[in-house]
Amino acid sequence: MCAASTAKAGNAAPQNLIIGEAPSIVALRQLVRQVAPSDASVLLVGPSGSGKEVVARAIHAASRRAAKPFVAINCGAIPRDLLESELFGHEKGSFTGAFAQHRGRFEEAHGGTLFLDEIGDMPADMQVKLLRVLEERVVQRIGGRGQIAVDVRILAATHRDIDVAIDAGAFREDLFYRLAVFPIDIPALAERAEDVPLLVGHFLSQAKGRRPVRFSAAAFDRMAEHGWPGNVRELRNFVERASILYAGRAIGRDEVGALLLRRGRVGAVERRALWDATEIAVEPVPAPAVQPPPAPMPAPALAPEPAAEIAEEVVVPISADAPAIAMTGAQPVALRDMLAEIERRYIEEALTQSDGVIADAARLLTLQRTTLIEKMRKYEMRAA
Ligand SMILES: Nc1ncnc2c1ncn2[C@@H]1O[C@H](COP(=O)(O)OP(=O)(O)O)[C@@H](O)[C@H]1O
Ligand SMILES: [Mg+2]
Repeated sequence: MCAASTAKAGNAAPQNLIIGEAPSIVALRQLVRQVAPSDASVLLVGPSGSGKEVVARAIHAASRRAAKPFVAINCGAIPRDLLESELFGHEKGSFTGAFAQHRGRFEEAHGGTLFLDEIGDMPADMQVKLLRVLEERVVQRIGGRGQIAVDVRILAATHRDIDVAIDAGAFREDLFYRLAVFPIDIPALAERAEDVPLLVGHFLSQAKGRRPVRFSAAAFDRMAEHGWPGNVRELRNFVERASILYAGRAIGRDEVGALLLRRGRVGAVERRALWDATEIAVEPVPAPAVQPPPAPMPAPALAPEPAAEIAEEVVVPISADAPAIAMTGAQPVALRDMLAEIERRYIEEALTQSDGVIADAARLLTLQRTTLIEKMRKYEMRAA
């Protein structure tokens, strides 16, 4: 259910995946070079979208564990009841729903690196269990008897000031010292605004197959006025939106203003443009006649984080937020229609949360991009 991820180093030196020439980033790359070869635990602290995971992957890729798995888990995005099993695994039948044996992330990461994202959100009782595993280097699956030895390097990240959580008694100080043998701060993009043009160039070079867009000097001036609260992730989404909407054209001050104004919502014009930009040779499927569902459905809760934060590696099973089933037997349930309606709502929400970037929305929904496009067509979602 949760996708594990394995880092690929590529040709470039791993620390060069961290783009930027600001003094803080030059120093960061140097730190990565120094800390990577050791097995020290590293705590990455920085705002959402600032590049914590990029740095974690760079550390792994430059370490002696590079050929082994890099496994990421977002401790803040997984419901408490699932987190323990996700981390440590479970034996078949150890609790209701444990239909099969499950290896935890610690076991999956054996020999490699385990990236504990949003560690500040870890519940207190899980902090205790994690501390014990870090001290003893063995895990016990839920319902299991045996101790399983794990050789795992721990990298952790948090977007919040963990000192405050320690003072408030919400985060264990002993765990903090275990995790933060080597703390690294990652600056907000606003603190290194001089890197914006370099990052824009980097993200433009990744927009393969599209006619390139060109940003004028005035466009960069306008970007410099923006605070980038979503940091590099927001900038990446901005460039992707720009390169879809203005393919083959020049972008000036006004276009930047319009693109920034629309962040967070996909307007009618953009939906149409997004649609036109995605060539797919599939005949439109008529949308199903959607009837009002029999049970009230809550708005989809795709992520507990603000919209800027996208949990890229962790998949939250839908059952965690599913509505209670209201079925009496006297009233038949239009299951197909209800499922279609849920699907449509989740797609809408994912597109909103990812600023209309289809690749990101697809990732949020764990769908292939082409599958998402087909579904959007099915629900006629190009129409505003
Ligand atoms: N220094 C950087 N160089 C290149 N890309 C970056 C950099 N920092 C962040 N990114 C990109 O921005 C997005 C968010 O980065 P991520 O590491 O997931 O942030 P965080 O984990 O801090 O929320 C990703 O697409 C990542 O590739
Ligand atoms: Mg992250």
